[in-house]
Amino acid sequence: MRHSLTAFGILLVVSLGNPAHASDPALGEKLHQENCVSCHGTEVYTRDNRMIGSMSSLVTQVNRCNVNLGTGWFDDEVEAVAAYLSENYYKF
Ligand code: HEC
Repeated sequence: MRHSLTAFGILLVVSLGNPAHASDPALGEKLHQENCVSCHGTEVYTRDNRMIGSMSSLVTQVNRCNVNLGTGWFDDEVEAVAAYLSENYYKF
């Protein structure tokens, strides 16, 4: 009991202390809709042989597309799109 309360306290401090880095899947959905559906639909995120196997490689892939497309997203926008894709498709 005491341990789980301590862990909760630490989590709370970390998340409250770091609001700028909280990923926002709703923002990610909007950014994705506006920039990412011209070449492939969402089917590449759920196909059997998909390339991406972890949250960190997902962030890397989103950032690669960001650079390729010249969208000029900031880190928190890249993370928001990764969070949106993970929440809805990859389930990391
Ligand atoms: C210029 C065309 C193009 C655009 C625009 C594009 N992509 Fe892609 N994307 C690709 C291609 C090509 C692949 C590889 C597909 C394949 O292997 O069949 C890919 C694959 C991916 C994958 C990996 C899918 C897997 O197998 O798990 C992710 C994630 C992804 N794209 C995200 C994005 C995001 C986020 C954006 C918006 C920033 C975006 N893409 C915009 C061409 C594009």
